[in-house]
Parts: sequence; structure tokens; C-alpha cells
Amino acid sequence: MQVLVLGSAAGGGFPQWNCNCPNCQGVRNNTIAAESRTQSSIAISSDGERWLLCNASPDIRAQIAANTELHPRQNLRDTGIAGVLLVDAQIDHVTGLLSLREGCPLDVWCTPNVHQDLSTGFPLFEMLGHWQGGLRWQPIDIDTSRHEAGFTVGFCPELKFTAVALDSNAPPYSPRRGAPTPGDNIGLFIEDTASGSSLFYAPGLGRISDSTRAWLRRADCVLVDGTLWHNDEMQRLGVGSATGSDMGHLALAGEHGLLSELDRLPETTRRILIHINNTNPILDEASAERAVLDARGIEVARDGLKLSL
Ligand code: MLT
Ligand code: MN
Ligand code: ZN
Repeated sequence: MQVLVLGSAAGGGFPQWNCNCPNCQGVRNNTIAAESRTQSSIAISSDGERWLLCNASPDIRAQIAANTELHPRQNLRDTGIAGVLLVDAQIDHVTGLLSLREGCPLDVWCTPNVHQDLSTGFPLFEMLGHWQGGLRWQPIDIDTSRHEAGFTVGFCPELKFTAVALDSNAPPYSPRRGAPTPGDNIGLFIEDTASGSSLFYAPGLGRISDSTRAWLRRADCVLVDGTLWHNDEMQRLGVGSATGSDMGHLALAGEHGLLSELDRLPETTRRILIHINNTNPILDEASAERAVLDARGIEVARDGLKLSL
């Protein structure tokens, strides 16, 4: 399985267009050791030719330009993107679909909850229906403690996908904002049946249940929620009032933070943080917080990172 990290930042990107927090100002002025990052998206392939885009970010045009694997090949109109999978209905994960309109019809895998939000509060399915066949919904069956589910995607038959229901949050335009139900957020456990290796991808982890913990432990590599260092980081910096818990993102620091969970994984697990908010001190490569990650063997995803599993 091959994985391209197209965008490693959370919503807003890094730097965020209207933000003067120390990180955003520092990367803009080149006064801190940090790399700019586009918004949350990865692509997965088993043959290196046909890619499943996991989340379509508002930065997709630049992300495609930066990754030759996704460029047109033989046909007059062509793309390496053979389908799209959405882990939630948030703006930073779905808005890129608008920029893919010239490629409709397009197969889009998502849960019934996400399909509903993208047909009502943010009606991308209706809108894009006006472009040659629009978005063709491929419903995802979710795995819960009571129901085991898995699925395959036609153009990468070696990969076995499991959509794991996660506790995070639905978007602000969802009727389930603040009271999410299974299917508003999923993590993906992807097993390569040819190589035997596996990846757990979860850019939005609000709370780690026993079953989520079991999926994390099973994966050779985890690519997980690095949104915030402190739960109240945006308040501390004065840039916003939302906490990590409000948004459905478990902060890294603290006794029950995500780092403490990652510490409990098997020693051989490769741990990589993704979906990093521009306020997070780990973006500054010279920060004390980044040194904490280095000492624990935890990596910070950057745009252009490629994984071969
Ligand atoms: C989130 O993950 O909570 C989103 O990035 C928020 C947003 O895009 O505004
Ligand atoms: Mn997000
Ligand atoms: Zn900022």
C-alpha cells in the first residue's frame, strides 16, 4: 500500500490566511523553523496508478499539482484520482469536491450521516448533480461493537477497508452538531492483504473508546489526530473560543491526552500525527513540545510525505 500525504494541516491550513498567532506569523515571515502545510487530505493506492483520495480539501488544486502521481496520463481528460472517500462532512475534508467537478461522474464513499449533511446543510451531492452524472454515492457500512463490517474498493482490490465509528463531532451545519451519532466521523483501518501490513487513519479523534484502542493497537502504522497540543490552546492564544473537546479533537498533552494513548501502543508501531492546527506548538521544529515528540519517536506529518506499507 502506498500513501501520499497531500495536506497535513487542520482546517485553515498553515499559515491560516487571517491569523497572526506566533506560528502563523513565524512561518509567514520565516522567523521560526517550520514548514507551511495545506489542509487535511491523503491518497492511498495499491498499484501506484489509481488513487483513492481520502478527503477532498479546499487546497486540492495545489495538492494535485504537487503530486505527479495524480496528474493526467494517457487520455485527453485523465486523472490518477479514481475515487474519493470522506471520513466526515467537515469543510476542510469535502470542499475540494467542488474543484473536481470537471471529473464527474465521481464515486464518493461516505457514511449515511455524511451523505445526509452533504445533501442538506452543505448540499454538494445536489449541486454537483448538475455536472455530468455528479457524485455517485457509495455507502459505507460502519464497524461498531455490535456489527463487524469491512469493504473493498474496486480499483484497489488488495486493500481491505474497515470504517471504524469514532467519537468526534459533526460539522456546525449538521443537525447532529454537539450530539454526533455513529457515522458522523470514521477512522479507516486499511489492511494490505498482499503485504499483510496495515494503517489506521483518523484525523479526528475526540475520545478513544476500547474498540478504537483495539484498532490502534492492531495497525503497523497510525496516522492520527494531531490537531491541538492543549485542549484550550486557541483560547490561550486569544484566536478563538472553541476547545478541542468542542470540535471533537482530543489534545495531545495531559494525563489522558493522545500522547498517553500512543505511549501504550506496541513498540514497533509507527506513530505519525496529522491534521495539525496552526496554533499547535509542534509545528515549530525548535519547540520544547516538538522535542517531546522526538524523544517519544512520534513523527509529525508534512505535505509530500510518502509511506510505503
Ligand atoms: C475540524 O476538524 O474541527 C475542522 O477542521 C474545523 C474547520 O474546518 O473549521
Ligand atoms: Mn478538520
Ligand atoms: Zn495561526
